[in-house]
Amino acid sequence: MTDVALAHGRLAGLDEIVDVGRDAGRGGWSRHVWDAAETELRTWFVERAERLGLDVETDRNGNLWAWWGAPGPDAVVVGSHLDSVPGGGEMDGPLGVVSALDAVALLQAQGVRPTRPFAVVVFAEEEGSRFGIACLGSRLLTGSVSPDRVRALRDADGVTFAEAAAAHGTDPRHVGADPDRLARIGVFVELHVEQGRALADLDGPLAVASGILAHGRWRIDFTGQGNHAGATRMTDRRDPMVAAARGILAVRDAVRGDDRATIGRIEAVPGGTNVIPSRVTTWLDARSDLDDDTRDLVARITASATEAAAAEGCDARVTEESWSGRVVFDPALRDRLAAGLGGVPALPTGAGHDAGVLAGHVPTAMLFVRNPSGVSHAPEEHAELADCVEGVVALTTVLRGLL
Ligand code: GLV
Ligand code: MN
Ligand code: MN
Ligand code: MN
Repeated sequence: MTDVALAHGRLAGLDEIVDVGRDAGRGGWSRHVWDAAETELRTWFVERAERLGLDVETDRNGNLWAWWGAPGPDAVVVGSHLDSVPGGGEMDGPLGVVSALDAVALLQAQGVRPTRPFAVVVFAEEEGSRFGIACLGSRLLTGSVSPDRVRALRDADGVTFAEAAAAHGTDPRHVGADPDRLARIGVFVELHVEQGRALADLDGPLAVASGILAHGRWRIDFTGQGNHAGATRMTDRRDPMVAAARGILAVRDAVRGDDRATIGRIEAVPGGTNVIPSRVTTWLDARSDLDDDTRDLVARITASATEAAAAEGCDARVTEESWSGRVVFDPALRDRLAAGLGGVPALPTGAGHDAGVLAGHVPTAMLFVRNPSGVSHAPEEHAELADCVEGVVALTTVLRGLL
């Protein structure tokens, strides 16, 4: 298939944005909602969509919608996100957005005109890397998070969501459930780079998603006594860093079967080399197949953290920051897509997606594109050009069947 726009042996869209948000310090890319990089990606998206004749609007929650024809009911919506984790890969999110725009271009080249309303969407803050709650744009749209809570969320610099939104033209007073917009979506399809190595093992380029593990984020605060690193005898300490270290080992030991539990972020307060911290906060990401398994995993971790803190004369407090129940994608849509693509496999995933949020409200499907090493949320995340092109063609086929 030669009709997909290429540049330097890559999808042209990915090539246009490859330098946006490159993170020299961490490696990879850092693109967080409404920072300079993500704002530049929004501008890129608007220009590229307008070149295809799409009309772009920003909804009340900062999500971008590019309509091919008039907005209306029972719309086919396809898209993903442009933000990344800190020091992430270039494909998680952007591959889905670029592929959606390329699919529109291909459909136009094939002379297809949609018979249903059609939009490409870019969801805001999918990774939750700036304000802490993943899939924030789609959660707000669907009303599954309280707008008051979201307005007050703070980033690492103390900027609130409300302030950041207002600075970028999104009126914070109006963020929240958007039932009319949600009711317009007839079907949602998200293409995404695979985030494991199942397709590499199966030796195939594409899959449809069957479901998403239950998962969530918890903040674990270990508190002790801040003190002088030189003047405080080891026996006199209540050091929350040591409590956190014990707690982190206990997180690994709490998993059973195919559970996943990760501490990916840690913060010491006040954070001086010669200061015993008064507080150490760790952030837990826990996932398992079923909701109850995940809740049980977090209960075991909570008990271990409490025990670890007590052993060091400290306290531990566990606070839930976000929760995503297990997702099963619409089986009829999934099977129809898989059959239309010549019988590609259906795979579960441990990664969260806006598609998972929408699946609770509208028929939703996902397409995965093979990632040879399976590495994701890291600079090495990759998909070969031939597989990316197959992804665009597959998305075009899917859309032809839906429009
Ligand atoms: C987002 O990609 C997540 O799964 O955490
Ligand atoms: Mn991600
Ligand atoms: Mn993603
Ligand atoms: Mn994700």
